[in-house]
Amino acid sequence: MTTARTLGTPLSPSATKVMLLGSGELGKEVIIALQRLGVETIAVDRYPNAPGHQVAHRAHVVDMTNGEALSALIALEKPDLVVPEIEAIATETLVALEEAGRITCIPTARAALLTMNREGIRRLAAEELGLPTSPYRFASSLEELEQACAEVGFPCVVKPVMSSSGKGQSKLDAAGDVAQAWEYAASGSRVDAGRVIAEGFIDFDYEITLLTVRSLGSKGEIETSFCEPIGHKQVQGDYVESWQPHLMTPAALASARDIAGKVTANLGGCGVFGVELFVKGDMVWFSEVSPRPHDTGMVTMASQVQSEFELHAKAILGLPVDVSLRAPGASAVIYGQHEAAGIAFEGVADALRVPGAELRLFGKPESFARRRMGVALATAVDADTARQRALEAASRVKPVIR
Ligand SMILES: Nc1ncnc2c1ncn2[C@@H]1O[C@H](COP(=O)(O)OP(=O)(O)OP(=O)(O)O)[C@@H](O)[C@H]1O
Ligand SMILES: [Mg+2]
Repeated sequence: MTTARTLGTPLSPSATKVMLLGSGELGKEVIIALQRLGVETIAVDRYPNAPGHQVAHRAHVVDMTNGEALSALIALEKPDLVVPEIEAIATETLVALEEAGRITCIPTARAALLTMNREGIRRLAAEELGLPTSPYRFASSLEELEQACAEVGFPCVVKPVMSSSGKGQSKLDAAGDVAQAWEYAASGSRVDAGRVIAEGFIDFDYEITLLTVRSLGSKGEIETSFCEPIGHKQVQGDYVESWQPHLMTPAALASARDIAGKVTANLGGCGVFGVELFVKGDMVWFSEVSPRPHDTGMVTMASQVQSEFELHAKAILGLPVDVSLRAPGASAVIYGQHEAAGIAFEGVADALRVPGAELRLFGKPESFARRRMGVALATAVDADTARQRALEAASRVKPVIR
């Protein structure tokens, strides 16, 4: 794509059709942003009534790790753009369809393929691009993992190569922890239960997501823009709070942008990328990257002029973007706290009485204790006050069984 798309009318022959592969809370917001531009939206997920299904023109329930099922659906719907929202997709199928000229994948099928496996993106970042990362080794057996951990040193972190949200991930303090970490990784892996990464533990001061947008300029050239850094707090590898801006030293910010610019330029295409970075003083390490909006970036629904979802929608259509901050903001996650279908939320009015607060309830049909069911957002004069407000608003929302 070298020019902006001419947008059509949904549900007519001129329609611009976009298919979301994965329709959780992030996909739902991308769909809403696309709907506002009159794009025909097709939401796909592995279970019925996923958040994005509820706001799209059409909804499909498909096992997206099944390449045949995925290509059959793409052949049926013939979308102009295929937009992966999750990692667990038959990405080889996307690569084959893209090579055959049958789809345009966002940002590129190669980016989806490389980032679904920690080995792909880590080797690219560290070995091809020479970006600073934690020391790492890969292992496919307990014996190899013992060796790998000894080489990277303790403490270290062991993760399945295919997993997200901290699943199957553990921190190891000594050689005696390796066997348990191997077992735990096998239980938490998404697809291939047999391969893990051991990473040296980085004793960072803080970690950020640097949302990086690749979009088209007026002459058809790719422009790279950086949102203000988003700070976040992780518990058991899952984000619980985020805020923007997170202040950085000029040197750390420059390194962060340099790293993000290099990795996103290599992955190519247009859209939003969430570049995860660890920072200590002026030192910055690349951790990983999502070639799509990032969960910690939900804060941008309050803090930016254009949320990361609107930025993604615009960038993938070849439209110009504005990454400026509207006000310092924060987000705090609301967990389900119950294992039940069709839960209800008390305290919403109280939550919305917190100054500057907003809420998103995702509408997920089924709740688990640690499933993210909603998020509180807030703005304030500074990010610390916004954090307090978002936390207060989130704590006022009480999931209950009806
Ligand atoms: N090498 C490391 N050193 C220190 N902390 C780490 C390291 N690797 C991971 N962590 C911590 O664990 C968190 C989750 O790790 P990572 O992002 O690799 O996992 P993930 O399962 O992909 O999570 P998500 O999908 O939520 O981004 C990081 O945000 C960081 O807080
Ligand atoms: Mg991560």
